[in-house]
Order: sequence, then structure tokens, then C-alpha cells
Amino acid sequence: MKCEIAPSVLSFPHGEIQPRVAELVAAGASLIHLDVMDGQFVPPITFGDGLAASLRSIPGIRLEAHLMTVTPDRHFEAFVKSGCFRVIFHAEATAHSHRLIQTLHGMGVQAGIAINPGTSVAAVREVLHLADHCLIMTVNPGWGGQAMIREALDKVRKVRAMRPDIEIQVDGGIDATTLPLAREAGANLFVVGSHLLAYNSLAEAAQTLNKLCQ
Ligand code: DX5
Ligand code: ZN
Repeated sequence: MKCEIAPSVLSFPHGEIQPRVAELVAAGASLIHLDVMDGQFVPPITFGDGLAASLRSIPGIRLEAHLMTVTPDRHFEAFVKSGCFRVIFHAEATAHSHRLIQTLHGMGVQAGIAINPGTSVAAVREVLHLADHCLIMTVNPGWGGQAMIREALDKVRKVRAMRPDIEIQVDGGIDATTLPLAREAGANLFVVGSHLLAYNSLAEAAQTLNKLCQ
């Protein structure tokens, strides 16, 4: 299973997202994580499928949408049509995670299921065999730049034990110190937002952090 970073565009000024993402992809960080917030599931509002559509032509890019929204299935079609190969929804946002995974598979894309720091792995246990991907939030969703909640890594260990072959992504507070801890716990995908800006360039950030994944 490939181990890599997934840069989040959340820390970039809106007008600079396109060139910055192109720089990351060219430097080998081609899995781009779109943090979609609706002002309901979490207080902030970020962007919609129009951003995915504006990035999809970057050569080699792979776009995934992390829907921090209520009624996530209302947005599936838009993000699939705008080029996302994977859509991640929150277990807390639906009573029908089993059906929503089926819906995404029916649309020909990968299905990811996410849980917040306060949610037990029990919320995903019965659908893990169906999902392609499980996102364990390592901060409370809504804002970049927070410190990792390290107890959440216990859930990474539990999910890895339940399904050795699933993609496990951690999201929030990932930097050069916490990435190896999450990797050790069993994660293989690492969302990185604000820490990308701690380097001289995005290319240096991508190369340094992807090396930690090897
Ligand atoms: C939090 C988002 C994260 C966040 C990561 O709601 O889902 O993707 O932007 O940002 P950092 O890496 O700054 O914690
Ligand atoms: Zn995210």
C-alpha cells in the first residue's frame, strides 16, 4: 500500500491555490486533499466542486474531496463530475453510511469514511469491509493549524487491526514529528495543511515529507 502525503489546500490564499497545487504535484505530491466545509457540520465555509474542476487539468493530479458537510450524499455527484477519484464523508453526518458507500461505488469512485476525535471506531466497524478508505481526524474538524490529538492514533491502530488492506488517512496536526507517529500506528496517508508553509518552498515540503513516508 502506498504511503504518501495528501496536501490540503486550506492554508493557501484562494487566489493562489492553482499555482501552489501545480507546484506540489510537480514535486511528487500528487494526491490533493480538498477540505469542503459547509458552515453546518463545522462552522467555517470553504469551497465547493468548482475548485476541484479548476484543478483537475493539472497533469498527474489525483483529487480527493473530504466532505465536512451535513447530507453529504447531496454533494457526491458534483465532486465526482468535477474529477475527484475519491469522496470521503463523515460517519457522524449520516445514519446510512452503508448505503452511501454503495452510492459512491455506483458512481465509479472510491469511498472514504471519516470519524471525528470524539467518535469511536464502532461507528465504522460494520462498513469497513466495504469502504476503500478510512479517515481518522486527529484534530477537531474545521480549522487548520491545530495540534494533533495523539489519543486518536489508538483508533488508527484499531482500524489497521480490523482491516490490514484499507487506506488509513490521518488529518490534522501532521508535521515532520507527528507523521512518523501516525505511520507507526498504521496510517499510510497523511493530510498536511499548515505545516507545508514551514519550508523554504512547497517542493521542499513535498520532498521532505514524502521521504518520511518511505
Ligand atoms: C481540518 C481539515 C484538515 C486541516 C489540516 O478540518 O480537515 O485537513 O486543514 O490542516 P493542518 O495540517 O494545519 O492541521
Ligand atoms: Zn481533511
